Amino acid sequence: MPGQESGVPEDAMTQHADQSPPATFRIRTATASDLDAIMAIERASFGASAWEAETMRAEIGSEWGRYIVAEEIATDGFAGERTAAESAVAEGADAADSHRALGYAGLRSVGVEGDVQTIAVVEEARGRGIGRALLAELLIEAERRGVRELFLEVRADNPVARALYESVGFGEIGVRPRYYQPEDVDAVVMKKEMLR
Ligand SMILES: CC(C)(COP(=O)(O)OP(=O)(O)OC[C@H]1O[C@@H](n2cnc3c(N)ncnc32)[C@H](O)[C@@H]1OP(=O)(O)O)[C@@H](O)C(=O)NCCC(=O)NCCS
Repeated sequence: MPGQESGVPEDAMTQHADQSPPATFRIRTATASDLDAIMAIERASFGASAWEAETMRAEIGSEWGRYIVAEEIATDGFAGERTAAESAVAEGADAADSHRALGYAGLRSVGVEGDVQTIAVVEEARGRGIGRALLAELLIEAERRGVRELFLEVRADNPVARALYESVGFGEIGVRPRYYQPEDVDAVVMKKEMLR
């Protein structure tokens, strides 16, 4: 079962205290109940190229995949004493806010080959390390599964994602010309050899 071999807790909490505002989030396995939140980020991030909800649902539930979400851990900053009624309201607000999905990512693997299927972070939370943390978790999962070669495709006009992938060891192995339509943008194919 994922999470049992490496000793890394499956729902590891990740905090980035050196950014402003501080992003405090945790990463956990996605379930079917995350579909709406994931699709909202998917559509906002990929527009016309977004997957259909049914495709995403199948991916989240697939035995070959692992999808993860980064969810916000809210703090309301309240320092004083509260009445019982105020506490109840605050807890309700915390409960709603603290589980907001900030991003998601998905891995698919069969045997020794795997693919980073997707990764996206809500626009207002980008640049705070969430994408890097999601990708790191997928790399750990790929290792757990015995993946030796990990592949992905990225739009040639996406320097942010390309820089992120290169920084964790992906290298360009080819180009699929005009792969993304109707925008007419090339896909860069990248590969990472998983070290054992
Ligand atoms: C790609 C994406 C997931 C990165 O998520 P993120 O949370 O913003 O990324 P991080 O804050 O973890 O930054 C990771 C790296 O990305 C790069 N990066 C992030 N923001 C950047 C920016 N504004 N300009 C250039 N590079 C940037 C840097 O290499 C950064 O590394 P660092 O740790 O040295 O800063 C996010 O930008 C996104 O959702 N984009 C839209 C969807 C998308 O394009 N997905 C990829 C499909 S292949």
